Amino acid sequence: MHYQNWINTTPFYLTQYGATYLGDALELLSQIPDSSVNLVMTSPPFALKRKKEYGNVSARKYVEWFLPFAREMQRIVTDDGSIVIDIGGTWIKGQPTRSLYHFQLAITLVETLGLYLAQDFFWYNPAKLPSPAEWVTVRRIRVKDAINTIWWFSKTPYPKADNRNVLKPYSDSMKSLLKNGYHAKKRPSGHDISDNFTKNHGGAIPPNLIELANTDSNGTYLKACREAGIKPHPARFPHGLPEFFIKFLTDREDIVVDPFAGSVVTGEVCEAQQRYWLAFELIEEYLETSRFRFPEITGTSSGQLGLFQKKAKNEPLSP
Ligand SMILES: C[S@@+](CC[C@H](N)C(=O)[O-])C[C@H]1O[C@@H](n2cnc3c(N)ncnc32)[C@H](O)[C@@H]1O
Repeated sequence: MHYQNWINTTPFYLTQYGATYLGDALELLSQIPDSSVNLVMTSPPFALKRKKEYGNVSARKYVEWFLPFAREMQRIVTDDGSIVIDIGGTWIKGQPTRSLYHFQLAITLVETLGLYLAQDFFWYNPAKLPSPAEWVTVRRIRVKDAINTIWWFSKTPYPKADNRNVLKPYSDSMKSLLKNGYHAKKRPSGHDISDNFTKNHGGAIPPNLIELANTDSNGTYLKACREAGIKPHPARFPHGLPEFFIKFLTDREDIVVDPFAGSVVTGEVCEAQQRYWLAFELIEEYLETSRFRFPEITGTSSGQLGLFQKKAKNEPLSP
């Protein structure tokens, strides 16, 4: 497939629909031709107060750090393409107030780069633990922060999108309405909504609040990490998150790129949905263990798994 020839280094591994590459996303993105990718679906490292193991940059410097990546994303997406960025908020160090960094990022991408904010989404994760402990569980002056913002940017005001591909099952009350009919009544606004209500559209139009616990659906990957004695990636997508945007914004055989791929959930979803995909990741251990998601290629391991197992057990690395 032509897209696998875009990058001039050897892929870390290939699947039927995708390819992973070990390296800096900025360098790898720069090798992708202009206007060739339908969707960038990603979760970059966030600007967290406490540094995560893969190195987050501070909130203040975040926008400056992200801008070159965003320029590449804007260059590679098609005119009807989209860039979906999952980004968590953060607290100002030492006080119970919030950083504005992810809003500053959205404003800069629109005002400086000329991207469009097609819609803002919120990922509500009911399994999030209460933090920061000082404000939430000790002093009890803030509540649990349980949402991530997801910015959906586009290159033009009319990116390809079809909400009929992501309909939710109707609620029980809607099902009975469809079965028993609706007795026409005008709303206080004067609208007569009876006609729309009696038609079965195959499901309800989803809202921009996506409720998903990230404890779901990483089962096979987690089990394989446990069996290998290796720590799983600490900030994985639940499958449902990339799946929603991939179904909503792309068609079969479109091309999706995740430049900050981590454990390659985006790739796994693309593979199942028959979208071509490229995944970039800086840390070899994450890519090596992401093979667990693709049982058909585990035999082609780079041989580094043993090294990561030794590291996890604090064993000496030389034989
Ligand atoms: C929030 S995690 C992504 C997790 C991913 N969505 C998943 O489901 O597993 C961000 C990832 O970006 C990687 N990363 C950070 N800077 C990078 C860079 N310059 N190039 C490529 N990957 C990078 C980190 O190592 C980390 O794994």
